[in-house]
Amino acid sequence: MSGQYLSAITSENNQIPVWMMRQAGRYLPEYREIRQQHSFLEMVYTPSVAAEITCQPIRRFGFDAAILFSDILVTPQALGMALRFTEGIGPEFPHPIRTKNDVQSLKRDIRVLDPIYETVQLVRSQLPSETALIGFAGAPFTVASYMIEGGSSKDLKHTKKMMVSETRLFQEVLENVLDVTIDYLDRQVRAGAEALQIFDTWISHLDWDSCEKYSAQYVKKIVTELRQRGISVPITFFGKQTSVFYPLYASTGVNVISIDWNGDMRQIDADLDPSIGLQGNLDPFMLYGPKDIIQQKVHRICNAIQSNRPFIFNLGHGLMPDIPIEAVQWAIDAVRSYSQTTTLS
Ligand code: CP3
Repeated sequence: MSGQYLSAITSENNQIPVWMMRQAGRYLPEYREIRQQHSFLEMVYTPSVAAEITCQPIRRFGFDAAILFSDILVTPQALGMALRFTEGIGPEFPHPIRTKNDVQSLKRDIRVLDPIYETVQLVRSQLPSETALIGFAGAPFTVASYMIEGGSSKDLKHTKKMMVSETRLFQEVLENVLDVTIDYLDRQVRAGAEALQIFDTWISHLDWDSCEKYSAQYVKKIVTELRQRGISVPITFFGKQTSVFYPLYASTGVNVISIDWNGDMRQIDADLDPSIGLQGNLDPFMLYGPKDIIQQKVHRICNAIQSNRPFIFNLGHGLMPDIPIEAVQWAIDAVRSYSQTTTLS
């Protein structure tokens, strides 16, 4: 049995599958308990711990898909970059990539990612058969932006400066990330991931042409290479502002495009090639609201998809640490009650 998530993408079924970005994380008391005992990276690189955290939201809510507990910033570690996560600050690369020398100092240390494939295997053996396991990686643009900025940034100034004034060097950084990302995704699938998601969060900082050149073209390279290697699992693209940029991803070969909450799903559904699936797009802040508003918002999104395309219910971005747990349950219930009504009618 393949479950709702995979069969929705292959159009065998009209129940709407649901999972949520950052479904494993600090809003769950069972996550916070484990987090007290380990650093974030310790959790990511300890297969038994990462597998347990991946499965926590499935046990509690019965989501249709589990997403591997890891982070998009592990691929720079495979390029030899030191990474730390600091409480209250977030990710930090103490030696950012800014010069030709910095780029030349990048290495290939892909063995550091080996424990993550072990996590994938463990999770697959622990999940119910109907729950799909999604593996993921960051796309070259967003990952490179963290490597160049040295951490989170409000405007990606260093990244965009390098992009426009030292384009060749910038492309070299992207190519380095591309290389390890393809290998990383390929090996996740071989270890048991049944679907992949590519995160390019910070395309929201780009203009149309740059988005095509430095994000969509690289996503296309990833998908093309994976398909050439015989990887056939569905691939979803996620980014902020996909409500604007989605047409750029229609020809990258991805199977599903995840839409941020700014987008009108009805209009996007009418416009986008119906062979491409949609995912989205509840504003996670709506989960601070009362049950009836959450239900209305969820039903409005489900009802916006009028075509027969694959549709996966999700948030426009990730769950926040202080989201009330019962609101997550209300949203899931609303998706399932919507599917039930439309299946019966
Ligand atoms: O449940 C899941 O979504 C699976 C695991 C997952 C994490 N990060 C765990 C995590 C996934 C898919 C990501 C992706 C990720 N990581 C992205 C792309 C998606 C997005 O959010 O836009 C980005 C940009 C990152 C980089 C990153 N990781 C930042 C900026 C931070 C700090 C901010 C924060 O939320 O704390 C992280 C840390 C991180 N990644 C946490 C988790 C659960 C919090 C760690 C903690 O417990 O302290």
